[in-house]
Amino acid sequence: MTQTLREILYTECPYAGLDPAAYPDDLQGWGSDHPVLAAAIEKLRPKRIIEVGSWKGRSAINMARTVRALGLQCEIVCVDTWLGSPEHWLRAAPGWYESLAMKNGYPQLFYTFMGNVVRHGFQDIITPLSMTSESAAFVLRHLKMSFDLAYVDAAHEYEPAKRDFVAYWDLLTDNGALIGDDYIIWPGVTQAANEFAMERGLRIVGEPGKFVIAKDATAGPTIRFQ
Ligand SMILES: C[S@@+](CC[C@H](N)C(=O)[O-])C[C@H]1O[C@@H](n2cnc3c(N)ncnc32)[C@H](O)[C@@H]1O
Repeated sequence: MTQTLREILYTECPYAGLDPAAYPDDLQGWGSDHPVLAAAIEKLRPKRIIEVGSWKGRSAINMARTVRALGLQCEIVCVDTWLGSPEHWLRAAPGWYESLAMKNGYPQLFYTFMGNVVRHGFQDIITPLSMTSESAAFVLRHLKMSFDLAYVDAAHEYEPAKRDFVAYWDLLTDNGALIGDDYIIWPGVTQAANEFAMERGLRIVGEPGKFVIAKDATAGPTIRFQ
């Protein structure tokens, strides 16, 4: 039985005493229901998944639904500061700033995420890890944790996106796969993903919205996008 991060890291259940009714019933996301996430889970049958960038929890809840439907014993670790990205603070689209749920100058988005996880009944599968992606990768490396699937959907700027691809690729098991969001949509992410794949001699399979890079180069193209 694989030890969970929750068992290692927390002294009490992160959901203890949390009443979802106190937080917004708002599961907005971006590309969070894309079929490639379920296809990768079906193919890899992961014991551990890491999601980097969770926002309100839509993609994590979608993956948890697949995990449960397949009867897998799998923990989904969600790494996010829950402080939002520059585009949310800079109000790049209507509603993004409001979604941060600001209180005394500090976002309460974490509680929107936690409320959603409990409301949808996936608190046994999803473990929050409230850290920057960089610090979380350090902790996970230190704990010698590895993951069968990494879904990276955090920063959209070139440098941090590339750092995330490198850090979370290196946390994958030998048969693991990395899925990235915003491919071909955000130029910084696209450049980072293409460069990363080229530098490591890896095969990248993508379409506007998502890319897949698998440790086993023959497996990547068999993960369906549709
Ligand atoms: C696009 S949203 C994630 C959307 C989510 N995957 C979904 O489908 O609903 C990006 C998230 O990444 C987080 N984020 C951005 N940069 C980060 C960083 N360096 N470390 C941790 N989280 C970060 C933001 O707080 C935000 O919640």
